[in-house]
This record gives sequence, C-alpha cells and structure tokens, in this order.
Amino acid sequence: MKFLKTLGLAGLLLATGQIVNALAETVPGDAAAGKSMYPLCTSCHGVNGSGNQVMGAPKISGQLEFYTLKQLQHFQNGVRGTVAGDKKGMQMAAMSKGPRLKSPEALANLAAYVSSLPDKTATSTVQGDATKGEAAYSVCAACHGGQGEGVEAMAAPRLTGQSDWYLVAQLKKFKKGQRGYHNADHGGRQMRAMTATLPTDESMNDVVAYINSLN
Ligand code: HEC
Ligand code: HEC
Repeated sequence: MKFLKTLGLAGLLLATGQIVNALAETVPGDAAAGKSMYPLCTSCHGVNGSGNQVMGAPKISGQLEFYTLKQLQHFQNGVRGTVAGDKKGMQMAAMSKGPRLKSPEALANLAAYVSSLPDKTATSTVQGDATKGEAAYSVCAACHGGQGEGVEAMAAPRLTGQSDWYLVAQLKKFKKGQRGYHNADHGGRQMRAMTATLPTDESMNDVVAYINSLN
C-alpha cells in the first residue's frame, strides 16, 4: 500500500516535471522584434489593433498572447480559414502566409507585439437580453472565466472588451463547422461542441450582451 502511494506520488512528480519542461520549451516572443512586421496588419486591424468591423477584422489588442499566437499558427497551417464560404477566414489565412512570417520565431515575436498594444474596450454593437444571456454564460465561465477574461490553462481566449460583433460571428462559424473542423484543433472542437448550448441567433446575441455587461 505504502509502495503504491509512493509510486503514485512519483508519477505525479514526473507528470509535473513534464509540464514544467513543456513550458520551458516555449520561447517567449520579442515584442520589439515583432513590431517591424505589424505594418502588414494595420490596413485591417488598425495601428492599435482595435479592429475594423467594415473589414470583418476584430480587435486583437488586449487578447491573451498564447491565443493570438495559436490563431496565427492555425491560419498558417490550414487549421482555420479553409472551409468554403468562410471568406473572412480565408482572407486572414492568406495574410498569415506572408514571407516574413514563415519562421516560428517571427510569429511568436509578432504575437508578443500585438499583446503589447494599448487595450481599449471595443464599442458595443450587439443588442440582446443580458439577463437571459447571464444564465447561458454560466456554462462558458468554466473555460473563459467568470469575467470573460480568458483562461490559458483551458486554452480559452478573453471575450470581455473584444469586438462583440466578432464574437457572434465566431459562434455562428463554430456552429456551422467553419471553425473547429480540423483534427489538430482541439480547442476549436471543444468550442464547436459548446455551441449546442446556444440554439438560436437570438441566444448568441443574448450571451454576448451579457459579456458586454461584464466590462
Ligand atoms: C486583409 C485584412 C487583414 C489583414 C491585412 C490582417 N488580418 Fe487578421 N483578420 C482579418 C479578418 C477578416 C479576421 C477574422 C477572420 C474570421 O472571421 O474568422 C482576422 C482575424 C485575425 C485573428 C484572430 C483573432 C481572434 O480572436 O480569433 C488574429 C490573431 C489576426 N487576425 C492577426 C493578424 C495579424 C497579426 C496580421 C498581420 C500579419 C493580420 N491579422 C492581418 C483580416 C486581416
Ligand atoms: C470546454 C471549454 C469551453 C467552454 C465551456 C466554452 N468555450 Fe468558448 N472557447 C473555448 C476554446 C478552447 C476556444 C478557442 C478555440 C480555438 O483555439 O480556436 C474558445 C473560443 C471561443 C470564441 C472565439 C473567440 C475569438 O476571439 O475567436 C467565442 C466567441 C467563445 N469561445 C464563446 C463561448 C461562449 C459564449 C461559451 C458558452 C456558451 C463558451 N465559449 C464556452 C473553450 C470553451
């Protein structure tokens, strides 16, 4: 019995050690080096990364760095932005394949620069019933956090203060299978399953109206 307990503890320590190693292997991006690539992005996302609804380009400032990097990798690797009908996703996928963005370091530096941009809460545009949305959000909090702040350990992005019209558009894409369709997209597949709790367009507007109220 005592032996088994020791073995259990050893297993736990080994697993923890592996997690620490995995973290140590991720080289942090260099924001100063990433700055020179950002002019490629301003025509759609703006100089401060505040987004442009007319272009369908969301606010990317204020987002968690791990998430920005992962989405850039997804677009580059065909994990996002390849499904027929997803014009905006395809546009962004094309942008992620620029010659200066080919190396993993370049992408990490660019993500670090984006996360260093000043964060200004996006203007709300979505109308919905925030009280109904609050009930729906109770499911979301487990991954996105009680304040919609995002939780890296759950691979879940920040929602509060980001472009609200974009949140609704992405919920629709997950539901239609234009996101979360790729085998390598574990987070996206999880999120796609979650849209079963939002059966109608109205319920999506309601939950986003509640997210807006968290600002
Ligand atoms: C031609 C316009 C355009 C340019 C230029 C552009 N993007 Fe985008 N970007 C978009 C659009 C449109 C989307 C939304 C895609 C969707 O609806 O799925 C997007 C989405 C993103 C996302 C995903 C955000 C999220 O929360 O899911 C990131 C990150 C991003 N862009 C970063 C960048 C960076 C960094 C650059 C510069 C290398 C860049 N973009 C250049 C149009 C553009
Ligand atoms: C099991 C964990 C989990 C739950 C529960 C969950 N999400 Fe997510 N969500 C994720 C992950 C992981 C991603 C990122 C997917 C990716 O990497 O492409 C995500 C992405 C999103 C996005 C896209 C944001 C962006 O910037 O592109 C929206 C919007 C979203 N979730 C809203 C919700 C809402 C609303 C609920 C509740 C109805 C919810 N999520 C419940 C894990 C979850």
